[in-house]
Amino acid sequence: MQKDPNGIKIFVSNTIPDLGIELLRKEGFDVSAWVEDVLITRDKLIAETKKCNALLSSGGAKIDEAFLNECSHLDIISNFGVGYDNIDIAAATRLGIPVGNTPGVLNDATADIAFGLMIAVSRKMFYMYKKIERGEWTHFSPKANLGIELKNKTLGVFGLGRIGIEMAKRCKGAYNMNIIYCNRKPNKEAEKLLDAKYVSFDELLAQSDVLSVHSAFTEEVRDIFNKDTFSKMKPTSIFINTSRGGVHNEEDLIEALNTKKIWGAGLDVTNPEPMQKDNPLLQMENVAVLPHIGSATVEARDGMSRLAAENIIGLYKNGKVPNLVNP
Ligand code: DGY
Repeated sequence: MQKDPNGIKIFVSNTIPDLGIELLRKEGFDVSAWVEDVLITRDKLIAETKKCNALLSSGGAKIDEAFLNECSHLDIISNFGVGYDNIDIAAATRLGIPVGNTPGVLNDATADIAFGLMIAVSRKMFYMYKKIERGEWTHFSPKANLGIELKNKTLGVFGLGRIGIEMAKRCKGAYNMNIIYCNRKPNKEAEKLLDAKYVSFDELLAQSDVLSVHSAFTEEVRDIFNKDTFSKMKPTSIFINTSRGGVHNEEDLIEALNTKKIWGAGLDVTNPEPMQKDNPLLQMENVAVLPHIGSATVEARDGMSRLAAENIIGLYKNGKVPNLVNP
């Protein structure tokens, strides 16, 4: 498709950085955006989308088959984010709607959060901070509050893609960690770069001192970290998830921590989101939880805003979505 942007209406369904909106307006698109600091409801999203030719979407309502059937007139959905598990890609493809995403620009930001969570968990940082807040720091105690060191330990990466590679680089550079990984297929280039070893899922579980999840979220990996798989991990191991909460079963994770099947956990993504404040994970000593801030840096979010706009501009101006996810 190639069309003059003038007269093309775009709806932006969340408060994204201005950069992308400015790019679209400069090209002549007519952009309207959700500006309230609450998530748009599904009904409102459908109503606004119906008035537009293209949707720049971010989080919130699921763009499922029913939604797509109602909005089958869309020329494109440009997802503000690298993960697009909120969109039914098969249904979009059936309806001929291209879907774009924003890969690459958030690798460092997300890997930093995974790396930070790993250190925070290994030294019980979040819990210790809470102790000070509660007035429970009474004296220096040589045998209390002991963490685990990371030097020369084994990092297991579940999903050695762009973000997983950045996490592995940090772990290798800072702690000389040995890198093992499990993917659908081996990544020879990454193996060379990181001196990484491709292992089976069971070997990943058994050998990792830190197991960090970086895979995309698909039905294949839903709840893959569960009672059974946590019980195959080392009792001294740390589980890190900065991918999607649906990859781990949260009740099973709580049980694995309570029964000392694993030592600790660091989560930037939870199941469900947002996590409720009475979640037992928040009271645990060896746990650190963040509210899905992997890509929350000025640089990453500006990059996402730009790429999300470029997907739309690419379609109308050149007939090509630069970061197309439909098969
Ligand atoms: C992503 O890009 O997938 C981030 O998790 C934000 O949704």
